[in-house]
Amino acid sequence: MEAKKRIEELTAILNDANYRYYVLDDPNITDDEYVKYMVELTKLEEKYPEYADPLSPTKRVGGVAVEKFEKHTHKTPMLSLSNVFNEEELREFDKRIKKEGITPEYVCEYKIDGLSISLIYEKGILVKGVTRGDGITGEDVTNNVKTIKSIPLKLEKPLDIEVRGEVFMHRDTLTKLNEEREKQHLPALANVRNAAAGSLRQLDSKEAAKRNLDAFIYFLMEPEKFNLKTHYDSMMFIKKLGFKVMPSTKLVKDVDGVLAYIKEAEKNRNKLTFDIDGVVLKHNIYADQIELGRTAKYPKWATAYKFQAQEVLTKLKDIIFTVGRTGRITPNAILEPVILMGSTISRATLHNADYVVSKGLKIGDIVSIKKAGDVIPAVTGAVYERRTGKEKDFVMISNCPMCHEPLVKKEGQVDYFCPNPNCPARNINSLIHYVSRDAMNIEGLGDEIVEELYNLGFVKRIPDFYDLKSKKDALLEYDGYGEQSINKILENIESSKQNGLARVLYAIGIPGIGSKTAKILSHRFGNIDALMNSDIDALEEIPDIGNTLATNIFEYFKDHQDFITELKNIGINMNEIDGERKVNDLITGKKFVITGTINDYSRNEIRDILESYDGIVSESVSKNTDVVIVGDAPGSKYDKALKLNINIWNEEKLKEVFKSL
Ligand code: IVH
Repeated sequence: MEAKKRIEELTAILNDANYRYYVLDDPNITDDEYVKYMVELTKLEEKYPEYADPLSPTKRVGGVAVEKFEKHTHKTPMLSLSNVFNEEELREFDKRIKKEGITPEYVCEYKIDGLSISLIYEKGILVKGVTRGDGITGEDVTNNVKTIKSIPLKLEKPLDIEVRGEVFMHRDTLTKLNEEREKQHLPALANVRNAAAGSLRQLDSKEAAKRNLDAFIYFLMEPEKFNLKTHYDSMMFIKKLGFKVMPSTKLVKDVDGVLAYIKEAEKNRNKLTFDIDGVVLKHNIYADQIELGRTAKYPKWATAYKFQAQEVLTKLKDIIFTVGRTGRITPNAILEPVILMGSTISRATLHNADYVVSKGLKIGDIVSIKKAGDVIPAVTGAVYERRTGKEKDFVMISNCPMCHEPLVKKEGQVDYFCPNPNCPARNINSLIHYVSRDAMNIEGLGDEIVEELYNLGFVKRIPDFYDLKSKKDALLEYDGYGEQSINKILENIESSKQNGLARVLYAIGIPGIGSKTAKILSHRFGNIDALMNSDIDALEEIPDIGNTLATNIFEYFKDHQDFITELKNIGINMNEIDGERKVNDLITGKKFVITGTINDYSRNEIRDILESYDGIVSESVSKNTDVVIVGDAPGSKYDKALKLNINIWNEEKLKEVFKSL
C-alpha cells in the first residue's frame, strides 16, 4: 500500500514538473531533484508493475520499435497555408476578406519551422499522433509522439478531442546532435526542420526520445463541440487542458496590428531558441471562417506572411580548390545561384576537407545555405532525402591545383598546404593581399587586375608594383587600361608609400600576423629596425603574442632582410605614423565582437574607430569578450553574449560612445 501511494505521489510530482518545464517553460524543481524522483519511480515501478500508471512519466523514453509506420487517414484533411511575402500582398489578403462583408480580426502566431502533427485524444488520453503526410493520409507515429514531453499524455479533462500543431527541434538541440554525429562520423543534419522530421520518423522510439523534440499546438478541430466561437478562445481552452500554446499568440484588431506584430517578430526572430520562417494570421471568428471557406489546399481565412529566408536550398554543382597566399588549400562550394537575403550566392567556402566530410557533402547534393545574422553564407549540410544516387563522393586533392606540387599536411592540423614558394596562386594571392583594403589599401588594384598584371609579367613580386610607373607605355598597349585609370593607380601606389609601419607589417604577409597584431607591433617598436633587432623573448613579452607567433616574426625577419632593405630603398615609410596613441577607457585594451546590422556605420568603420583606440575586434564571443555590439537581426553571438553575461552595446550606446571620442 505504501508503495502504491508513493508511486502515485511521484507520478504526480513528475507529471507536474514536466508540465511546468516543457509546457510553461517555468520549472518548479531542480534537474537533480527531477532525476532523483525519476530514479525512485523507475525502481518502484520495476518492483510493483501492477501499481504503475500506464501513462507514467517514466514511459517518455520510448521503447517501441516498429518495422514501418501504419497509415492513418485524417478525419478532415490537414490543409496547408497560402503565403504572402510583403505588405502589399498582406493588404490584398485583408481586402479579400472585407469584400465578403466580414470585418477581420486576426490571431497572429509564429510560423514555426517544423512539421505538422495531428493529435487524437479519447476520454482525455492521447491515442494517436499522425504526421500530415499528403494532407489526406499521414503516418501513425504515436510511439514517437509520446516521447515529446510537451505533449500531454493525459488531459486535464476526459475529452474526445483532436488538435493540430507543429513538432520542431530547438536550435541548440541540433547543434548538440550534430556534434554527437560528428563524433560517430555521421554526416551533419542540414537544418532543424529536417532534423525534426527525421526524428519523428525514427522507427525506434528510443531513438526519437533522444532527439528532444518539442511541439506547439495551434489548431483545435470541431470547436463547436465545446461551444467555442473563436480561434483565440480555443487556444485559451486547450491551454487549460495542458497543451503548449505559443506564448506569442496575439489577437490584433486589424491588418495594421498584424504588421506591427510582424515587425516585432522579425526583430525577435534570432533571439528565439527555435526557427520561425514567418507569421501566421488567422481570422478569429469561426462563423466567418465557415463562410469564407477554403480552396483544395488552403483555408481562405488564414495566410502565412513569409519572412525573407535566412536559409535556402540549392544544388552543390561542384567543389573546387583554391590556394591562398600562405599556400593553404580551401575547398569551395560552387552552387546553383540562389538569392539569399537580397544577394545572389553562387559560391561558399567549405573551409577544409574535414568540414566537407563532417557535413557529409557529395557533389550533386541539394544543400542548405544559411546566413543567419552573419554576412558570410555557410553550407550547413545536405538534404539526404533528395539524393538520386547520381551524386559523386568528395575526394580531397593531393596536388596543388595550380602548380601541381604534392600538398602537405602538418601533424594535428586540418589544413593542407602547397609548399611551393613559387606557386603562382600563392604569389598572386600575396600580391592581392598586399594591395587590399586593410593592408596597403591601393585603390584601383582589384583582384582581377592584380592577377592580370601577374600573368602579363608586370608584377611578379611586391617591389614590382612600385616600378609600374616605368612600364606605363607597355601597359597602355593592353586593352582595358586607359591612361587616366593607369595614372590614378600609379598615384595611389606612390602615395601608399606613406601608409606607415602597421599597414606594411600586415601587407607583407608575415605568417600569423593579422592587422591587429601589426598595429600592436608598430606601436611597440615605432620603426622596422627596432622590430628586426628584437628577439623572441622581447616579442613574447607583448600581450597577445605567444611563443609560436614570436618565433614566426623572428624567423621571418631573419629570412627577409634583403626584401625589407629593398622596400626601404623604394622609399616605403616603415615608421609608426599614428604618432601619439589614442586612449579611451571604454575602448582601449577591450575586446569587442560585432553582430547584426548597425544602421549608421559599416562594420569596417566601427572596427577602424575601435582599433584606432587600441580596442580589439574579434569574430567570436568568449568569456574574454568585454563588449558585444548588437545591431538589427543579430546572430547567435548575441545569444552567447547573453548566456555569458557580457556587456552589450546597442546602436544607441555605440553612437553615444563614438560621439564622446
Ligand atoms: S495553421 C488550416 N499555424 O505551416 C491551417 N500552421 O505552410 C493549418 N505552421 O502545414 C495550419 N506554424 O505545418 C498553422 N502557427 C501556425 C503554424 C503553422 C507553422 C506550418 C504547418 C502548415 C504549414 C503551412
